[in-house]
Amino acid sequence: MITREAVSELDRLDPLALQRDAFVLPRDKIYLDGNSLGALPRAVVARMQDTLQQQWGTDLISSWNQHGWIDLPLAVGEKIAPLVGAGPGQVICTDSISVNLFKLLSVVSMLRPDRPLVLSAADNFPTDLYMVQGLSALLGEQRLRLVQVAEAEITDALNEQVAAVLLSHVNFRTGRILPMAEITTATQAAGALAVWDLAHSAGAMPVALDQCQVDFAVGCGYKFFNGGPGAPAWVYAASRHQNSVQQPLSGWMGHRVPFAFDPEYEAGPGMLQYLCGTPPILSMAALDAALEQFADVDMEALRAKSVALGTLFLELLQKTELAAELRLLSPSASEQRGSQLAFSHPQAYGLVQAWIERGVVADFREPDVLRVGFAPLYNSYGDIWQALEALREVVAEREHLDSRWRERQKVT
Ligand SMILES: Cc1ncc(COP(=O)(O)O)c(C=O)c1O
Repeated sequence: MITREAVSELDRLDPLALQRDAFVLPRDKIYLDGNSLGALPRAVVARMQDTLQQQWGTDLISSWNQHGWIDLPLAVGEKIAPLVGAGPGQVICTDSISVNLFKLLSVVSMLRPDRPLVLSAADNFPTDLYMVQGLSALLGEQRLRLVQVAEAEITDALNEQVAAVLLSHVNFRTGRILPMAEITTATQAAGALAVWDLAHSAGAMPVALDQCQVDFAVGCGYKFFNGGPGAPAWVYAASRHQNSVQQPLSGWMGHRVPFAFDPEYEAGPGMLQYLCGTPPILSMAALDAALEQFADVDMEALRAKSVALGTLFLELLQKTELAAELRLLSPSASEQRGSQLAFSHPQAYGLVQAWIERGVVADFREPDVLRVGFAPLYNSYGDIWQALEALREVVAEREHLDSRWRERQKVT
C-alpha cells in the first residue's frame, strides 16, 4: 500500500522538482491537463511584459530588426529541433498543425505524383483526417484521397498506391505511442513518405526524428511546450526533402527576400519556404520564452517522471471503488503510453466536471473518455495523491451524477 509519506518522498527525490517553481500555478488547483494546454511559465510573463511594453510599446516597428522579430520563426524552430531529435535547419515555427499539414500533404502529393493514397488511422486526431479530406476535395480523388485503417493495421495496408502515411506519434485519446522507427521504415520500404504529428509527444518524451529518418513532421506549441493558448505550431522537413518541391501556400514571408516586394514568388532557402504570412510575434515570443524551460532538462529524466506519475495514478486508483468502473483505454504497459491516461466511463463528463469543481483539472473527450495528463515539469507526485483523494470524494458524494452535467460546454 502506498502511503502519503511515500508519495512525499518521491517528490523529495524528484530531480525535476525544482522546475515547478518556474510555473505560475494556482494554489487551489491540481492541473492534470497540460496535454491540452500547458501551464504558464514565469519566464513567459516577463517576456510578455518586455515584448509588449518595450518592444511593441516603445520600439515599435524597429523591433522587427532590433529585437529579432523577423528571425523568430527560425530561432524558435532551432530551439524545438533538439527536443524532437532534429539536426539544425529542419524545423521552423509557423501557423497551426492543420495549416502545416496542408503544406506537407501538398508536398507529399508532389513528391509522389503517381500515388494517390494517404494512409492514416481511423482514430487519428480529426484535423489530420480533415486536412487530407480538404486537399482531396481540392485536387480530386484521383490525385489524393484518404484511407483510414485501424492503428495496428497501418503497415499491413501499405501498397504501391500509398504516397504517405500520416500518424500521430501518441494517440490523442488513448495515449498509445506508435512505433515511429518501425512504421517509418516500413512506409519507406513501400516507397511512401512518413508524416508524423507530434502534438502529444513533443516536450513530453524523447523523440528521434532524424534517427528514425522521418520525412516530415508537425507539432504544436501549446501543450507540453507551454507556449500558451493558440501558440504557433512547427513543421519539420528532413533536409533531403527541402527545396525539391515547393509548398503551395507561397506567402510573402516564405519568399527569398520578402522586402524586395518582387511580383514573382521565389521560395526562400531551406525551411523558410514553409512560412506563409506575418508571424504572430506575441505568441511566438511567448513560446520562445517557454522553451527556455527545457534548456537544462534531460528528456530521459522527463520521460521517467512522466511514466512514474502515470504508474502512481493507476496504483492509487486501484485503492478506490472507481477502479472497477473506470475502464483503462490506454495501454497497460507503461512503455507504450505517452504522458496521459484515458479511461472510459458512462458518466465521464460528469466525473470530469465534478472533479474540476473540487479543484482537479482533467478533460473529457467524446464519446465517454476521461483524460488525465501528466506534465513532468510541474506536476508533482503529491498532485496525483490529491487528485485521487478528490476523485474518491466526488464518487462518494455522487457529485458526478448531478443533472448540471447533462449539458456539455463547447470546450470539454
Ligand atoms: C494530435 C493532434 N493534432 C492536431 C491538433 C490540433 O492542431 P491545430 O494546431 O491545427 O489546432 C491536436 C489538438 O489537440 C492534436 O491533439
